[in-house]
Amino acid sequence: MKKSISLTINGTKVDAEVDQNITLLSFIRDEMGLMGTKEGCGTGDCGACTVIIDGLAVKSCIYLAVEADGKEITTIEGLSIDGELHPIQQAFVEEGAVQCGFCIPGTILSAKALLDENEDPTEEEIKKGIAGNLCRCTGYVRIIKAIKKSAKVLQKAK
Ligand code: FES
Ligand code: FES
Repeated sequence: MKKSISLTINGTKVDAEVDQNITLLSFIRDEMGLMGTKEGCGTGDCGACTVIIDGLAVKSCIYLAVEADGKEITTIEGLSIDGELHPIQQAFVEEGAVQCGFCIPGTILSAKALLDENEDPTEEEIKKGIAGNLCRCTGYVRIIKAIKKSAKVLQKAK
């Protein structure tokens, strides 16, 4: 059975009819065509599908689209403005924190949710903030360095 939902994705209001059992991940990718949100495990373990919902980093593969009714969603496509990379994205590039790239959209969104809440996190807080995002390539050192760097850039820009 279908249900009407109304939500905001990357600043744009979206009204849709969705199957009650479709995940937010499927809705974002298959209905909205936003392919930056990745599907890894599909069971809430890898973090590749992370999006921000009302300010919190959430794994969209274990979140139903109907639960997103009335909520504000940010995907990786919503971070850059007028083609300019967001400072977190820029820092990931500059620090060489991107290897295969599969985990990166989810990790960056977890970092954004963290930095929106805590502008100057400690290394431990950064590790905790991205604890749900698995990366098979980087060993996390460069990722953590990039998040520290972007925290400084964002603080300066305030
Ligand atoms: S695809 Fe959602 S946590 Fe792995
Ligand atoms: S860069 Fe390859 S999984 Fe993280």
